[in-house]
Amino acid sequence: MTGPLDGSVALVTGASSGLGRASAAALARAGAHVLVHGRDAGRLAAVAREVGGTPLTGDLADPADAERLAAAALAAAGRVDVLLCNAGVGWSGPFTGMPAGDAARLVAVNLAAPIALTRLLLPGMLEHGGRLVYVTSIAGRLGVAGEAVYSATKAGLDMFAVSLRQELRGSGVGVGVLVPGVVDTPFFERRGEPYTRRRPRPLPADRVAGALVAGIVAGRAEIFAPGWLRLPIAVRGLFPGAYRALDGRFGTRTVALRAGSG
Ligand SMILES: NC(=O)c1ccc[n+]([C@@H]2O[C@H](COP(=O)([O-])OP(=O)(O)OC[C@H]3O[C@@H](n4cnc5c(N)ncnc54)[C@H](OP(=O)(O)O)[C@@H]3O)[C@@H](O)[C@H]2O)c1
Repeated sequence: MTGPLDGSVALVTGASSGLGRASAAALARAGAHVLVHGRDAGRLAAVAREVGGTPLTGDLADPADAERLAAAALAAAGRVDVLLCNAGVGWSGPFTGMPAGDAARLVAVNLAAPIALTRLLLPGMLEHGGRLVYVTSIAGRLGVAGEAVYSATKAGLDMFAVSLRQELRGSGVGVGVLVPGVVDTPFFERRGEPYTRRRPRPLPADRVAGALVAGIVAGRAEIFAPGWLRLPIAVRGLFPGAYRALDGRFGTRTVALRAGSG
């Protein structure tokens, strides 16, 4: 059986859990050989077996590990055609109560590591073509009270992707973002505040991963999961005053949280 990504090599960060794990499986089904990255060696080995991929461990809070990961990926497969920067970590609570170390960790894992990996792997991609894909968040488009640093890292990643896409036009390297709302993964438990709202209902990770891989194959610049997230984003862009008024009226968390805020 042939797939649209036959013969290609994909590196998925944060593939030991949740969306990364589901995306690694979807990329493998599409024909890619998947280099699966994560910290938890046990869970990672299970994913590697599941997708017939190669496990690569590393803690992206440490800048040296991003360098080691890029080198290990090239040593293992000789090239990376698809880089999916998915690893991410959340933190929820009032900003004044956020320890400096947690803020630094979010910036390192969610923003600095994808930039470092891109810097290290893009030169090879420019020689043979490729695709850079970043998992951002609705929080980075709308902002969320209690998630200021998380939202800032995701907004920064989003704009990094937009700028690179402009810079790499015609180069053979495409750039895209996945903008998820709420996805059913351990993300919320791990950040210390479970997702307890009834709506919006979390999307299954497999469904989001399917949309992501379809978007990669089609070369889409933006993939929204669910698609209706475009609506609050457009309202905020077109009518920022009205958006602020709604947000103020219903409480600072409401508008963004109704759209989801992982
Ligand atoms: N779930 C949602 O509702 C939602 C919504 C919007 C955006 N997102 C984004 O989606 C992406 C995937 O999250 P998820 O929902 O699948 O959460 P998850 O199940 O908690 O998975 C997070 C992944 O990131 C990895 N990771 C975390 N810290 C790391 C570090 N310091 N170094 C290396 N890897 C690290 C984890 O590795 P280990 O397991 O090995 O520690 C894990 O594989 C994240 O970027 C998140 O911000 C999620």
